[in-house]
Amino acid sequence: MKGTILRQFSYSLLFLAFSICPSTSDIFPGKKHFVRVVNDLEAKRLDVHCYSADDVIDRTLSTKGEQLEFEFRSVVNTYWNCSMNSVVGHVGIEAYISEDPLIDECGGVHCIWNAREDGIYLYRIKHSDYVKKYDWIPKPLRVRSIKRNVRP
Ligand SMILES: *[C@@H]1O[C@H](CO)[C@@H](O)[C@H](O)[C@H]1NC(C)=O
Repeated sequence: MKGTILRQFSYSLLFLAFSICPSTSDIFPGKKHFVRVVNDLEAKRLDVHCYSADDVIDRTLSTKGEQLEFEFRSVVNTYWNCSMNSVVGHVGIEAYISEDPLIDECGGVHCIWNAREDGIYLYRIKHSDYVKKYDWIPKPLRVRSIKRNVRP
């Protein structure tokens, strides 16, 4: 009898601990993962805006070779989406999704994205190669009003 009460008491404590903690990820932190975005555009600036459920990262990669890398702990339903903007166009990518085949394609704890003239490529670590995943959505052509030389 005493043992049962004691057990019930410790279950209540455990329950209390779980309900007080803001999220289970604090108790069981997920594995560290990384997203990297590389500007591989020839002499073009790349604006990157990445967001998850709780974070936003904005960065301008002004030259070729410049990169952005951030780390996070991946738990259930962790995702990172990034929107890319350059003179070539714009595109939104799913840079990281937990429990998704994408992670296997990334091939490790890094998902590495390269922005090139013809689209956005994923570096497959296990294959040491790049696969194109997204095309740029071209910017609409600006229709410039033509100024006529009006003679006085
Ligand atoms: C992430 O981006 C994809 C593709 O643009 C979109 O379908 C999806 O809804 C986005 N997810 C979130 C959580 O914003």
